[in-house]
Amino acid sequence: MDRIAVRGKRPLSGTVTISGMKNAALPILYACVLVNGVCTIENVPNVRDVTMSIDILRDMGATVKEVAGNTFEIDCRPVKQGTSNDELVKKLRASYYLLGAELGRFGRARVSMPGGCNFGGSRPIDQHIKGFEALGATVRTAGEVVEVEAPGGVVGDDVFFDTVTVGGTINIMLASVTAKGNTLIENAAREPHIVDLANFLNTCGAKISGAGTDVIRIRGVKELRGSRYAIIPDMIEAGTYMVAAAATGGCVRIENVIPKHLEAVTAKLEDIGAIVEEADDAVIVTGRERLNATRIKTRPYPGFPTDMHPQMSALLTRAHGTSIVVEGVYENRFKYADELKKMGADITVNGHTAVISEVEELHGAEVEAVDLRAGVAMIIAGLIADGETTITNINYIERGYDDVVGKLRRLGADIETVRD
Ligand code: UD1
Repeated sequence: MDRIAVRGKRPLSGTVTISGMKNAALPILYACVLVNGVCTIENVPNVRDVTMSIDILRDMGATVKEVAGNTFEIDCRPVKQGTSNDELVKKLRASYYLLGAELGRFGRARVSMPGGCNFGGSRPIDQHIKGFEALGATVRTAGEVVEVEAPGGVVGDDVFFDTVTVGGTINIMLASVTAKGNTLIENAAREPHIVDLANFLNTCGAKISGAGTDVIRIRGVKELRGSRYAIIPDMIEAGTYMVAAAATGGCVRIENVIPKHLEAVTAKLEDIGAIVEEADDAVIVTGRERLNATRIKTRPYPGFPTDMHPQMSALLTRAHGTSIVVEGVYENRFKYADELKKMGADITVNGHTAVISEVEELHGAEVEAVDLRAGVAMIIAGLIADGETTITNINYIERGYDDVVGKLRRLGADIETVRD
């Protein structure tokens, strides 16, 4: 079984360059299905969720060429409706963006229920369905397959989400961008990747305004044309290196970032005693051997991101005092706590809340990556532990982190991937 081996207790130092944002690249790739032309997408991260999505689109008829490092030319004009491969689609969550993209282009969609990280609770798509229905579609689920159909074409309307959903907001943007009439999405997600998708679609001729606020207005256009677009830097990858730098007592310059997107993580790191300096497109994080405990509650953007909480929990295991981490987005996201306990962490989970009490040291152990961000949290735990930590199930980590082992080695970490 492939694994990552980390020998800890080395402060990270040097410079790391952040890749394009996975969670922006994925909707933008699927959005190409709506475009009547060739799109050139730059700064595409080399992560497995992206390569699987490219495989899904190619399998449906798209021509996808890597024309330079991290730059892809994508022509989805030959894509055939309803032909996505069920087995491939089930491997990742973002494949459900095909529902919105196919519906917008063909007036109908057929996609298997998405897979992806299972945090230990359900990940329903009721809000996506409610949105499609508001746009005049009927939705049927047959076994594991979702079928959406708008016989008279998609018609813009008001969509009010009961809960803030990134995926739901994206799917309704995709479905409505070429609809008849206007769509208003209320209680929309405000994440930077929503703004990135809107910016990409607008360069293709869409008329989307308000992305980044909780009300998005979409004036349906007849056609989208090809464009050239560069994906924004990955704020979660950047946040992960910020936490790793702080946790190891190191000093790391993290380049190719948008510091504004990192404010929640920056504020929390400063709160616990790390130093964060901001430059135009970089942040420099300096940690200490031991930081202070804190309280964190995850919330939709601009709150503290749920995708950063496992990494922070790993750091907090050795912080002075007792920390409280409350998960405010998902029903459950604490499966990793048992893995940290194998390394000697003192964590008690009760419902949405984890109480993390300081321990003197973490000790290397054999642990599992139970999901993507939990996997990288194990790497951070390994970096601060004494002895050797071996992480299994690393395919999760490779789905979302571009060359994490190489980047950490260049920062001085003693880490390697062991392939059998
Ligand atoms: C996306 C990200 C994921 C991140 C999450 C929250 C991608 C590929 N994934 O996931 O990394 O953790 O945003 O920032 O971009 N919900 C419903 N009904 C719905 C949809 C969602 O109840 O129809 C609930 C979910 O169960 C969850 C919450 O809303 O509790 C937020 O989910 P959502 O924002 O949709 O997350 P994803 O788009 O799946």
